[in-house]
Amino acid sequence: MLKKFSASAFRQGSNFVYHCFMSEDLHLSNGTKEEKYRVLTPQLAALLDGEHDAIANFANIAAALKETFAWLWVGFYFVKGEQLVLGPFQGPIACTRIKKGQGVCGTAWLRGETVVVGDVEKFPGHIACSSLSRSEIVVPFFENGSVVGVLDADSTALDDFYGTDQYHLEQVLSLISPSWELPQRETRGA
Ligand code: SME
Repeated sequence: MLKKFSASAFRQGSNFVYHCFMSEDLHLSNGTKEEKYRVLTPQLAALLDGEHDAIANFANIAAALKETFAWLWVGFYFVKGEQLVLGPFQGPIACTRIKKGQGVCGTAWLRGETVVVGDVEKFPGHIACSSLSRSEIVVPFFENGSVVGVLDADSTALDDFYGTDQYHLEQVLSLISPSWELPQRETRGA
């Protein structure tokens, strides 16, 4: 089970020297997808608890999801002006900017709701950041009722995302706190 880091300090001459010991191993379930989420989400809640740096937290969410589900790509885009801009992610390099209404990500932003795509080749306007992607889910998250970013996950398998993912990923995103310092917003497009 995930443990928070511990720290120790000792005196060296007139100074104190501080050491942090990271021991944050994720406990992974070998069970069903549902069980994997049930084991993961409380650990994520513990990991995020008390940390207000948004980049650190989004990076850890992406890493934990990648480690748990071994998806091709999982990460975040943030709304900046009229575009989504790439944030912390795990997987191959990805397109940096996406316009509102463009691709699966821009569609989830425009609609303000989760979009599940069983076969990306059948989604009009899908943006293929990797030719290996076959299915995709994009989940928006909100601040004061407006979309401020999306979580995107891509799989090499067809139909890899369904209601279980939508429910649990929306639960994961409910852990995002308004106190997190989101990346500074751009007021202009690129
Ligand atoms: N496929 C996405 C683009 C982002 S990448 O998959 C990481 C889309 O159609 O919006």
